[in-house]
This record gives sequence, structure tokens and C-alpha cells, in this order.
Amino acid sequence: MTDNTTGTHGAVLQDGAPGPDGLLVELRGAGKSYGNIRALHGVDLKVHAGRVTCVLGDNGAGKSTLIKIISGLHQHTEGEFLVDGQPVRFTTPREALDRGIAAVYQDLATVPLMPVWRNFFLGSEMTKGPWPLRRLDIARMKETADQELRNMGIVLDDLEQPIGTLSGGQRQCVAIARAVYFGARVLILDEPTAALGVKQSGVVLKYIAAARDRGLGVIFITHNPHHAYMVGDHFSVLRLGTLELSAERSEIGLEELTNHMAGGAELAALRHELAQVRGVDVDELPEDGDLGAPVATSPEGTP
Ligand SMILES: Nc1ncnc2c1ncn2[C@@H]1O[C@H](COP(=O)(O)OP(=O)(O)O)[C@@H](O)[C@H]1O
Ligand SMILES: [Mg+2]
Repeated sequence: MTDNTTGTHGAVLQDGAPGPDGLLVELRGAGKSYGNIRALHGVDLKVHAGRVTCVLGDNGAGKSTLIKIISGLHQHTEGEFLVDGQPVRFTTPREALDRGIAAVYQDLATVPLMPVWRNFFLGSEMTKGPWPLRRLDIARMKETADQELRNMGIVLDDLEQPIGTLSGGQRQCVAIARAVYFGARVLILDEPTAALGVKQSGVVLKYIAAARDRGLGVIFITHNPHHAYMVGDHFSVLRLGTLELSAERSEIGLEELTNHMAGGAELAALRHELAQVRGVDVDELPEDGDLGAPVATSPEGTP
């Protein structure tokens, strides 16, 4: 059993020894097959402390498969997976967590009717008193949750409110602060902004940057190149299970990244096909090099 009476920061996590350049996690030619479905193949990826690595790609590109390998839900079937330079093969998320790798999923594992502070400590409650009289240390949990959220710049009016009353963006932020408190070194976020509006997405992006500034290596999964470019240091684009692009921020602009995501070549083919269909005005479609800004569409469809 875990003893949290000391409330030590990250008591349950091992200290890691990242490489000299802060390299925490590395994939080398990694792949994964589900039976005879090859979901991922030949992927190289590096996650450094204090940097945001963005993984982009369309639906079915293999993004979730990739992070399931890193977070211990699935095992790779080809290539290598290294943590702190050592080859690893996790069989449970617990093993990944013990090495400081924490994943925040879109469908967050929270109990909606429980207060925010209670959710913050869910599964790792602080206790006080000697066994067998040990009980929850409610005062200290509330105080710590409040302090930790403030440290991340997250200000909530009332930590007694059920977490279900928070917005999706706020819940993501609590989950990020929680992972930071429990000693995560690598934070994996699977499409944290996918279901959020513009303003809430901005808030989540702000805390991704805050986690990075606290020295975590962040893996940010998204299919939104605009969100990725706001916080990303490195961009890896997956396409049909393979790495289509791997570029440092200095090597690529937002427009080019957007183009990679939209699949410039495919769009050209689509334009060509649509041109054969009567009634579709291809001039209304974006040009290959003109995908930087969202395309306005008229609500009535084609004029
Ligand atoms: N458990 C599974 N069994 C069989 N095929 C799977 C499984 N999980 C994912 N796949 C397949 O692997 C491919 C990549 O899926 P996924 O990693 O979920 O992509 P993404 O997260 O980028 O949308 C898809 O073709 C998907 O159908
Ligand atoms: Mg997915």
C-alpha cells in the first residue's frame, strides 16, 4: 500500500535520470500491429524535458496507438522504446507512471459529483493517524490542491464544487496540475482541445506551456495545426501509421504544417475530381498553398 502520510512530492514515483540533453523518452523505428492490422510502423520520436512534442495526424493515423505504447496500455511489436536511455516494455499504465509517464485522456477519469480537491487526490489520498485509526487528511488535501492549482496559475473560486460543474477546459487543467504534483516527468495529452471552444482551448494551451516551463516533457496529440504551433517545439505528423514529417519549430512554418495536415496532394486530387462534377465551383476550394487560414463557407452551400 502506498503511504501518503508524508505527502512528499511524487512519493510514488521514481526519480529518473534523463540523458544529458534532457532526453526522457525515445522511440526508434517503433511499430504496432493488432493481429494483421499494422496500426503503426517505423516511428521515431524524441521527448525532451522542457519541450513540447506535438503529434499530429488525421483520424486513424495512429496517434492513439503511439501514446498507448508510451503510456503502457499497449506494447510495441517492432522497434525500440527507451526511457532514460534504457529499453523498456511496459505491461501496465502503472509501470509507465512509476517511470514518471502520465497520460491525460479526453474522457478524464474523474468522479463528477466529488469536489475538485477530492478528485485531485483520487486514488492517492493523504491520510493521517496511526493504523488502524488512519483516516483521510481532508484539511491537508484541500490546502495542497489549492496551492498546487495556484502554482500552475489555475484559480478556481471554490474547491468544494463538484468537478462535474467545471468546464471541460478547467477539468483538463486540474488533470494537468495533478500530474505535475504527483511527479510526472512526461505528460501525454490526447487531443485535449478537440472538444473545446476557442477560449477554453486557449486556457488548456496555456497550461501545456506552464507544464513545459516546469520542466516536463509534453507530448501533445492534436489534429489542429494552429493549436500545435502555438506551443510546439517539435512536430511529428503521422499518416496511415507512418511518420510523414518530423520537424523542429525552426524548420517549419504554420502554413507548411497545415498543408501537411490537410494533405496538399490529396486536396489537389480532390479539386480535380470535383471539377468534373457539375455545380461545384472549384475556385471556392482552398489552393494548396492557401491553407493557413480557416476557409469560410457560405451556409447555403454552393451559390
Ligand atoms: N485495438 C485495435 N484493434 C485493431 N485495430 C486497431 C485497434 N486500435 C486501433 N486500430 C487501428 O489502428 C489504426 C490507428 O488507430 P489510432 O491509433 O486510434 O488512430 P488515431 O488516434 O490517429 O485516430 C486505425 O486503422 C485503427 O482502426
Ligand atoms: Mg485517437
